[in-house]
Amino acid sequence: MRSNSSWPHTSLSEILEIDLPILQAPMAGGATTAELVAAVSNAGAFGSLAAATLAPEKIAAEVARIRQLSDKPFGINLFVLEPPAADPQLLRAAQERLRPYYEELGMALPALPEKLCESVSAQIDAVLALQLALRPALVSFTFGIVKAAVVERLHAQGIKVMGTATNVAEAQAWQAVGADLICAQGAEAGGHRGTFIGDFEQSMLGLFALLPQVVDAVALPVVAAGAIMDGRGIAASLMLGAAGVQMGTAFLTADEAGIHPGWKRRIAAGPETATAVTRVFSGRPARAIVNGFVERMTAQADQLPAYPLQNALTGALRAAGFKAGNLEYVSMYAGQGGPLARALPAAQLLARLKTETDLLLGE
Ligand SMILES: Cc1cc2nc3c(=O)[nH]c(=O)nc-3n(C[C@H](O)[C@H](O)[C@H](O)COP(=O)(O)O)c2cc1C
Repeated sequence: MRSNSSWPHTSLSEILEIDLPILQAPMAGGATTAELVAAVSNAGAFGSLAAATLAPEKIAAEVARIRQLSDKPFGINLFVLEPPAADPQLLRAAQERLRPYYEELGMALPALPEKLCESVSAQIDAVLALQLALRPALVSFTFGIVKAAVVERLHAQGIKVMGTATNVAEAQAWQAVGADLICAQGAEAGGHRGTFIGDFEQSMLGLFALLPQVVDAVALPVVAAGAIMDGRGIAASLMLGAAGVQMGTAFLTADEAGIHPGWKRRIAAGPETATAVTRVFSGRPARAIVNGFVERMTAQADQLPAYPLQNALTGALRAAGFKAGNLEYVSMYAGQGGPLARALPAAQLLARLKTETDLLLGE
């Protein structure tokens, strides 16, 4: 058992050289704009760029935009994934299932996507090639684990490493490859499940169950994630042994978050039962707001191809839905705490989070 009662000074704030041990979660799909990342870091917390879907050559440009807005520490997040060899026939059959949805939006089935996903090794090389001024303080990973040699290469450039864990074995595996931090992702969390050891359903652990067990199992500082929306969630996480928190949904409604305004409204409108974990959008279980696409596709969910195939096949549909403002066809990832979200500029949200947590824990 470890205590982190010295809020806001914890092992996390020390390692990342930040004032507030609050990480804005990396959120792929356009949410984590350079403006959001910079606003969070400038406010003394830690902004994270979701770079998993960025081509390696785009990473430097995005980081340069952050650096124009902030000289504070920030992080980059990647999915541990390599493009799979996919049989075009299988892809076309999987795409055929989506025809009615494309047609309802007035579209023909698009050509098969040329690229199914980015290569994480190429992305890591791009991060390692960043010039000193653009270098992130942290690279975090989800969906899998990297080799110790990769961690060593990042360490050699002064970059810390955080691995996502949804169970104790994953946290121990990250510790074994030399990670500096573990992000314990509870089942409440919005977005994709990070599970990479064992069956994902067995690892749908609520944060209150997962966090203290991970804290007990590893010697590393643990960052809590999953429906942490206000000072109560932060204080509770620290009480359970976390060194800090990673908050996603709470920042989705921030002014700087780059998501569709209708998605922001749906998060706030709730109710708390509005989300489900589904693989219909991407082929990998992820917590999203239930809409028409989820309701209609769930019966076929078991037959859909795995990530990144289904994700690539629904990409044009989701983009068209957002463009048309038709939210019945889009993925609106969000955690179970959505109705607690506040629509504020990120700096104001962080100021409130600090005050609320100060009141509970004392400064
Ligand atoms: C819209 C959205 C996108 C996300 N994308 C990523 C991602 O790219 N990489 C990642 O490690 N986690 C991602 N996550 C998960 C977060 O890291 C974190 O586990 C989650 O937001 C915590 O739960 P909360 O949303 O209830 O705060 C995403 C979450 C959301 C809501």
